[in-house]
Formats: sequence, structure tokens, C-alpha cells
Amino acid sequence: MLKVGVLVSGGGTNLQAILDKKAAGYLPECEFVSVVASKPGVYALERAANFGIPGTVICKKDYASQDEYDKALVEHFTEKGVGLIVLAGFLTILGKTFMDAFEGRIINVHPALIPSFCGKGFYGLKPHEKALEYGVKVTGATVHFVELEADAGPIILQKAVYIKEDDTAETLQKRVMKEAEWEILPEAIKLFSEDKLKLEGRIVKISD
Ligand code: GAR
Repeated sequence: MLKVGVLVSGGGTNLQAILDKKAAGYLPECEFVSVVASKPGVYALERAANFGIPGTVICKKDYASQDEYDKALVEHFTEKGVGLIVLAGFLTILGKTFMDAFEGRIINVHPALIPSFCGKGFYGLKPHEKALEYGVKVTGATVHFVELEADAGPIILQKAVYIKEDDTAETLQKRVMKEAEWEILPEAIKLFSEDKLKLEGRIVKISD
């Protein structure tokens, strides 16, 4: 059984999608052992509690440095025996100490087709605002392995979403979540838990 830890910063609809799939029997190899929030009071913690998953708040501002913060997270997830870290709408920067401790075992969902509309500052509505501003006809979501550089790690899955003429950043954000993020994040977790993801350089090969 793969023990999974989830990092969240907000509403937690991606967390909900994962836990709904787990409840429906889609992730038999995964046990969700801990949800860690970057600040208190986020709704994602309530969603975790509803599924009986322990929630913890670990705030960066309570630590003297990035390294101390990283160490606190590493200690927490190591104690829980976590083998996969899922960033599900997690908006705090993680440092080298964390990356090294969980190398190749951290995945993130991003609300755009990387390498478009990604990198530092591209979170929340921003990727959608920029996609509309640029006039692209297709956007979507990406699940990728996490490396130190933001949104730059090897891509695991992507799903496209067509833009409508009357879309606003808000309507687009909702559709990208529903049609893409909530599908490909649980799928990537499943593939990882079944040991079906193999890295060749920066290319992720998916076996049957
Ligand atoms: C999601 O759209 C996720 O892709 C995005 O934050 C939202 C969190 O929603 N993440 C990023 O922008 C990371 N760069 P949720 O809390 O409802 O899952």
C-alpha cells in the first residue's frame, strides 16, 4: 500500500476529487495518511476530516528559514511513512531540502497546459486570465513531477479544455478544474501507485 500525503492551501476541490475516487474504489493501492495545509482555516482541512484523514497546519512563517520549514515538512511526512506527496492547490514554495528528501515522489497539478501560462506567480485565476488575454483557443491542466524550478518538472498527464468566446477567468477556471484537473490528478496518483511511471531523461513513459 502506498502512503500518500497531500499538501493544500485552499478550497481543496482537487483533494475532494481524489478522495471521492478513493471512496469509489479507484485507488486501491493508496492510503491517504495526512493532509497538510499551509495556513489555518482552509476548507480543504474540513474535507480531509470528513474522510477521517488527519489534518495538520504547518505555516512557513513559523519557521526561521526555508530550510527549517522544509525540515518540518520532511519530518512530518517521514513519520507518517509517506511514499508520495501530492500538491493539490498548494501555493507555498518548497525548497531543496524537501525536494531532495522526496525526489521523484512529489507531483503537482497546474491549471494550464505547461509550458504555457506557468511559473512564478501563475496560480489561482492568473493562468486563466493570461490564457484569455493571449487569445489561445485551448487550455487545460497538467500533472507533473515537482522539481525546484516552478512548474518545470517532467510532465505526467495533460488534458485539454476548449475556450469559449464568452468565458471569463472564473468560468474557465471552473471548467478546467471539472473537465481536466479532477480527472488527471487522481489518474496520475493511480499510475504512480501502480508503479507505471518511468522517467527517461525528462520524458515520463507510462506502461500498461
Ligand atoms: C487549482 O486550480 C490548482 O490547479 C491550482 O490552485 C487551484 C486549487 O484549487 N494550483 C496552482 O495554481 C499551482 N500553481 P483547490 O484548492 O480547489 O484544489
